[in-house]
Amino acid sequence: MADFSKRLARMLDELGRVTDEPGQLTRTFLSPAMRRANQLVAGWMKEAGLKVRVDSVGNLIGRLESKNRGAKTLLLGSHLDTVRDAGKYDGPLGVLLPIVTLGELKRRGIKLPFSVEVLGFSEEEGVRFASAYLGSKGYCGKLRAKDLVMRDAGGVSVREVIERWNGLTSRRSGKRVGVNALHLKAAHTRSELMGYVEVHIEQGPVLEAKNLAVGVISAIAGQSRFKLTWTGKAGHAGTTPMALRRDALSGAAEFALAAEKLARGTAGLVITIGSLTTSPGVANVIPGQVVHTLDVRHAKDSVRRAALFKLGRLAAAVIRKRGLKIVWQRTQDNRAMTCSPDLTAQLARSVSAVQGKSQALVSGAGHDGVVMSTLTLVAMLFVRCRDGLSHHPDEYASPKDLAVALRVLVDFLERLAKDYRR
Ligand code: HGY
Ligand code: MN
Ligand code: MN
Repeated sequence: MADFSKRLARMLDELGRVTDEPGQLTRTFLSPAMRRANQLVAGWMKEAGLKVRVDSVGNLIGRLESKNRGAKTLLLGSHLDTVRDAGKYDGPLGVLLPIVTLGELKRRGIKLPFSVEVLGFSEEEGVRFASAYLGSKGYCGKLRAKDLVMRDAGGVSVREVIERWNGLTSRRSGKRVGVNALHLKAAHTRSELMGYVEVHIEQGPVLEAKNLAVGVISAIAGQSRFKLTWTGKAGHAGTTPMALRRDALSGAAEFALAAEKLARGTAGLVITIGSLTTSPGVANVIPGQVVHTLDVRHAKDSVRRAALFKLGRLAAAVIRKRGLKIVWQRTQDNRAMTCSPDLTAQLARSVSAVQGKSQALVSGAGHDGVVMSTLTLVAMLFVRCRDGLSHHPDEYASPKDLAVALRVLVDFLERLAKDYRR
């Protein structure tokens, strides 16, 4: 197995060089780099004996058909898109590790009584478009009109990007075949599926603190994302007295510090303002407008909702005091998701068999499992990552820990095969 973890590490390195932004790893929804990534991973899927297709929203799907007619399907996978200046494990690990595992079973001549699909989702992070999970939503038939009308920084809508990806803008007539024609329906019915298992780096410090290579997750925290637009009055930086200013950036900054204070004072609550732009955005003009994101998460929905209410009140106080206006636009809202206790117990059994003990964690990060839980049972295997660091180029999981995760997945599939009844 050791050389398989080295092979997995090499594949992660190679895929980690497929980027839209030379010098750093950035791969976004249906971008040129995503097309190249799909081609590279599709080749590895074929080597492992999978039949490969790409669906209408760019998800890469490798299927291993069981010989048993009417056999159910186990889904394994994660996302192939990345954040900006990303690490190479967040997402790709959960696509490549199952491919290597199935290749190992093929090499050992082990035939599974059920079918397997390895999924490389085209978009989970929500970088190009404000709302996340476009790939798994497409796979589960959950894409809605409000998703299709979202526009990227260049003003291109999700609908147009999907149509271009599928060559649906017919050049001859110039007529556009609407994206509905892509039949964005769910890839499977619930009864056809055994469940969805995702392998992912922990992106946190717990496994490292407990000196464990892998763990399972019990739940995924709920998250709300917004775009906030603060409007004041632009003016001359040199001639406008401080008392007469309606500075949108000072208002947003006061709100940001108050939000941080709220999160620091509430156990388990995390609040992040990840991107902020001011306009007109020049040194000698008072910012007339500020637009920023707001990301609020907690394992308990009631705590997250209470925090959102308090944030609304904090912002209202700031705009009253400073004579500003504010617009809140919700771009994502996911309830906390509990993993399937049964499927997670089966995965934990394999973790204990390989590692000696199993540890259950709550995931502060969102994952495609949130959307997949609308279609089937969900379980996740977490792999230790150095310093818990993620969404950063220094993200790292050791070949030793990758080898443990590989052995857990092989054990899990072998036990599932033994217990399998149609
Ligand atoms: O933001 C998240 O939690 C995940 O990395 N998409
Ligand atoms: Mn991520
Ligand atoms: Mn991820």
